[in-house]
Amino acid sequence: MAERTLVLVKPDAVGRSLIGEVLVRIERKGLRVVALEMRTATTEVAAQHYAEHQGKPFYDGLLQFITSAPLVAAVVEGPRAITAFRQLAGGTDPVEKAATGSIRGDFGLETQLNLVHGSDSPESAAREIALWFPSL
Ligand code: PPS
Repeated sequence: MAERTLVLVKPDAVGRSLIGEVLVRIERKGLRVVALEMRTATTEVAAQHYAEHQGKPFYDGLLQFITSAPLVAAVVEGPRAITAFRQLAGGTDPVEKAATGSIRGDFGLETQLNLVHGSDSPESAAREIALWFPSL
């Protein structure tokens, strides 16, 4: 059964010309990109996207960063797409948590600049896809 997840190629990855690298890894895994758009996130969308983290020490900086420059938002589909993409991404901290071979493990050094976002549950995926791609 196909599942969908929301992927963000964050501004750090876009700025480092890693859009293609991320998409290649998604497609090589066998997942399918079913929607794709480059845009600069508004503070409103970013705040809704990260609503559950409001009040955490990194929240303000994260909002500032994610709205600072263009990102690529995508809907990615396939069997167990949510878990499959989170494995491709690696853990949140690119040095302490992300394995070598993952996107963050291969390209990241700092937690804020961790290159990609992937939905963490079916409920988050449904909410985030509706937020970023309301016409889907
Ligand atoms: S938590 O507190 O365990 O729920 O946090 P986590 O799920 O690991 O991360 C939630 C999102 O916040 C980002 N994050 C950070 N950004 C900047 N600085 C620090 N220290 C930091 N810690 C976590 C993290 O990348 C998650 O965003 P996404 O876009 O989902 O990767």
